[in-house]
Amino acid sequence: MASSLIVKTLTGTKTSNTPIWMMRQAGRYLPEYRAVRESQDSFISFCLNSEKASEVTLQPINRFGFDAAIVFSDILMVPWALAREVIFIPGTGPKLKPLSPETKLDKKLLDQIEDRLAPISTTLKFVRSRLTDDRALIGFAGAPWTVITYMIEGGSSRDFVKSRQWLWSHPKEFEILLDYISQATISFLALQAQAGADILMLFDSWANAVPAEKREKITIAPTRHIVKTLRQQGYKQPIIGFPKGIGEGIIAYVEEAEIDALAIDHMTDPRWVDKVLPKKFPVQGNLDPLSLLAGGSEMLNSIDYILDSFRDRPHIFNLGHGVTPPTPISNVEQMVQRVRKSDNVI
Ligand code: CP3
Repeated sequence: MASSLIVKTLTGTKTSNTPIWMMRQAGRYLPEYRAVRESQDSFISFCLNSEKASEVTLQPINRFGFDAAIVFSDILMVPWALAREVIFIPGTGPKLKPLSPETKLDKKLLDQIEDRLAPISTTLKFVRSRLTDDRALIGFAGAPWTVITYMIEGGSSRDFVKSRQWLWSHPKEFEILLDYISQATISFLALQAQAGADILMLFDSWANAVPAEKREKITIAPTRHIVKTLRQQGYKQPIIGFPKGIGEGIIAYVEEAEIDALAIDHMTDPRWVDKVLPKKFPVQGNLDPLSLLAGGSEMLNSIDYILDSFRDRPHIFNLGHGVTPPTPISNVEQMVQRVRKSDNVI
């Protein structure tokens, strides 16, 4: 909604209070999440169960009063919607049937995205109806490269050897795959914007693995294409880009990807970010999730450092990556209190 602190911040206004939400805020660190999760066997069917997904989406808002809810779903719903086998193994993570350069990509499947992911649209509509106007609803997707790494590697990876090998040895096939996943991503984000998302976010969690020389082609150009197409289709929601781990690459990313705000990881120094980005460009981030896990005065100092670094800039407080399951609830409460207490009006 236009009146939420977050949307104001994303449209370039420095608000008297810094808005806050937390990546992976609906998740295993919450006992009420674990209780709902246990009632559903497969993770995909959990994401497609609008009633349960709505419930867990709202849990962190009810408990901590965050400024935004992020719809409960997953970036791997896109390969699932494209009929790739995707399963989540508890304690191991996602497993996919690996793609090879010879795999034929069926264009017709792109037309099925809306139907296959319709339950996520239902979740968004329901959650939006339950949120007050001062809270924003975030829809999201993985950026094409990050989603593709799961499709090529067949799951999570440390060094992304197969994906990087494709980049160099099959550049044509890789480009076709990028375009295919970009189209699916546009459909997924458009569906969420239509269903009531106030903000969209693109998670490029493994952007760090793209060789710098290929960044323009693999990271920036597809992001720009997604943003431009959504704008052409009439969607006006602010779009946050999260190119995790690209270091100095954020300068070109902000200049060229046409996103409205940049989410930064905890490896990036907020003072440096404030120095190098255009003055009013909104930034989100970037407390180390392990600082939140540890808590105490070290955490409070880190929060203050981040807030102070962005005192003259539209800023959304967040973590540098997702909250980890063993994080104590009381540390999250302390973080919220500290951010709410800081008065950084300009
Ligand atoms: O609260 C929220 O942030 C909303 C929901 C959300 C989930 N995944 C739910 C989830 C969001 C925004 C994501 C994004 C996501 N999913 C990313 C990008 C952000 C990031 O963390 O880098 C990625 C890379 C994925 C892929 C994924 N999903 C992996 C690697 C895993 C297994 C590892 C893990 O954290 O468990 C998942 C599963 C997943 N997605 C869980 C949740 C709450 C845990 C599964 C469970 O509860 O059984």
